[in-house]
Amino acid sequence: MSKKKIVNLYKKKISILKKHNHYYYNQDKPKISDKDYDDLKSEISLLEKENNFLKKLNLSQNLVGAKPTNKFKKVPHLQPMLSLSNAFNMNDMKDFIKKINNFLNFKDRKIQLFSEPKIDGISATLIYEKGTLIRGLSRGDGTVGEDILSNLKTISSIPKFIKGENIPNLLEIRCEIYIGKKDFLKISDKFANPRNAAGGSLRQKNPSETEKIPLKYFAYGFGAVEPMIFKEQSDFLKKISKWNFVINPLSKTIDSLDEIAQEYKKIDQDRSSLDYDIDGIVYKVNDLNLQKRLGSTSNSPRWAIAYKFSAEKATTKINNIVIQVGRTGAITPVAKVDPVTVGGVVVSNATLHNEEEIERKDIRIGDTIVIQRAGDVIPQVVSVDKSRRNQNSKKFIFPEKCLCGSKTSKEFSKSTKKLDAVRRCTKGYNCDFTAKEKLKHIVSKEAFNIDGLGKKVIEQFWSLNFIKEPSDIFKLNYNKIKKLEGWGDLSINNLKKAIVKSKTIFLDRFIYSIGIRHIGQENAKILASFFSSIKDFVKLFEFKNRKKILVNLSDLDGIGETQIQSIDNFFSNDTNSRIIKELISQLNIKDFTTQNKDGKFSNKKLMFTGGFKNMSRSEAKAIAESNGGKVLGSLSKKLDFLIVGDSKPTKRKVDQAKQLNIKIILEKEWNKILNS
Ligand code: IVH
Repeated sequence: MSKKKIVNLYKKKISILKKHNHYYYNQDKPKISDKDYDDLKSEISLLEKENNFLKKLNLSQNLVGAKPTNKFKKVPHLQPMLSLSNAFNMNDMKDFIKKINNFLNFKDRKIQLFSEPKIDGISATLIYEKGTLIRGLSRGDGTVGEDILSNLKTISSIPKFIKGENIPNLLEIRCEIYIGKKDFLKISDKFANPRNAAGGSLRQKNPSETEKIPLKYFAYGFGAVEPMIFKEQSDFLKKISKWNFVINPLSKTIDSLDEIAQEYKKIDQDRSSLDYDIDGIVYKVNDLNLQKRLGSTSNSPRWAIAYKFSAEKATTKINNIVIQVGRTGAITPVAKVDPVTVGGVVVSNATLHNEEEIERKDIRIGDTIVIQRAGDVIPQVVSVDKSRRNQNSKKFIFPEKCLCGSKTSKEFSKSTKKLDAVRRCTKGYNCDFTAKEKLKHIVSKEAFNIDGLGKKVIEQFWSLNFIKEPSDIFKLNYNKIKKLEGWGDLSINNLKKAIVKSKTIFLDRFIYSIGIRHIGQENAKILASFFSSIKDFVKLFEFKNRKKILVNLSDLDGIGETQIQSIDNFFSNDTNSRIIKELISQLNIKDFTTQNKDGKFSNKKLMFTGGFKNMSRSEAKAIAESNGGKVLGSLSKKLDFLIVGDSKPTKRKVDQAKQLNIKIILEKEWNKILNS
């Protein structure tokens, strides 16, 4: 090959790699399998090795991790942009309704819902001050967005000024930006699907480029509104539609479970004739007062759910079945399949869940299978085509050992009174495979959130012995990293900065990060609120203290026997103890503070006993917290109020509170305070 041809080939491969880096690191949506990605990188290194002159072009610098998109100014959201929890069948929908009723303590009151198609586009928020569009942000990480106002302004149907009556002084409109299917056809050579095209156009640095793409939008919600003038979701949409915002015409109120199913079926049937992609129906509590009472968990509102349409399916063949070890030691079998495109993404792995699933479906190596992919969920096997099975095929024997060589076991679940379906390696940090996954969890967005230290970099640094346990992250030798291919001054500096920044962490995030089984983000918050400071949290390491603390933890709403057992296991393990103590020594862990300090219970400590007529315990707790109070799980002198519900309060707690001179608030008085 001539020198020119080699350079061209090399440049082409670099540009493909850059593109996939961007999909992987900036969009979190890889479009090729891990193997193809690694192959591409190896091809580039091989070309460089064989043709020294290529290195002088200096093109492969900084290619580990696409540069963070610093193109747009980062702006904090006035209110977080959350995501939605998903339902996949009517049982999930029934659960959703049940949970809402439980939270609100409704017995048989009917709750009206509002249904809207879930547009598969890119979310954005538009902020109007006194009716003028002053800011437009992308979702970003949900807390901080990017200023994409100039690009949003190119969408002619977005009002730049609102004309009408009673327009709130501050109005934040949440919307989904999309490209119509027909319009997409004109530009389909540049993008894989309409959603990517919309995302790509919104992130153009040059608005005149964005303007060329026919973007459209549907407004579906609000963020900050002052003064609040809307009463229902339906009323909100009606009003903003009068103010010239585009709302989806297929939205309607829903009054029963039957109607939920009917609407879902109807829209699913009409789906292909719409000019925009939708991937489900969003059902929302229509009454905004109830929405407010329901509030949100860390990630999603309690008052809405996305009932997803069935996933796209494809047929492929299983080439191998391998084992993956998760951060909790869970052993998951994974089918390596012939790469196949499902819903615009190339899939080469499908989860087989667990041993029972393989047994039940009799899944074997060599089988032809149908796989499906729903949203961001890992592709799954729907069915096996046994008619195409090779006569010599053998049943798959599930390995009883972990990849680290140690024995695995199934736990007995106290809640279901059955053996768990999942096999686990119980070695924790002593199993290399579990340890690596624990590290990936620690650096993830919801945990330490270290930009530039993604899953692939952890894999690489692990194999080079740079990072073996969490504290190593903070002791990295950057001179060694500098010698690695793809790491230049800029990417090293960015990594350094991100790591230093992550050293300061709030207690709740820290607790979530260390990956105690059954302690997710919500439970980590509950624990952080109980312990307040790292000083009190580390008492869990001492046997005697731990036993005492665990008894008190059982009083906390949300923390049950399973969680307590898991905390006990975690802290009684010597390796965990050494590793976590070492990690703590590198960090500045900030006390847990409730977000809203000014309120009716500002800086006050409360505890509940007994049930209330008008609200569930969860809601009472949420109200206390949003009013600046801290809800304690056990009685102590520190407590300011014991709130006693009329239904079955614990006498012991009331008596103890009286002895300690703690102010007792009865249900009637509690309601009065809330309404004052
Ligand atoms: S309501 C989470 N309604 O879906 C806060 N979201 O997974 C309430 N989306 O970020 C969202 N169509 O970008 C809502 N009719 C609709 C929607 C919709 C699309 C997107 C939205 C959100 C994501 C949540």
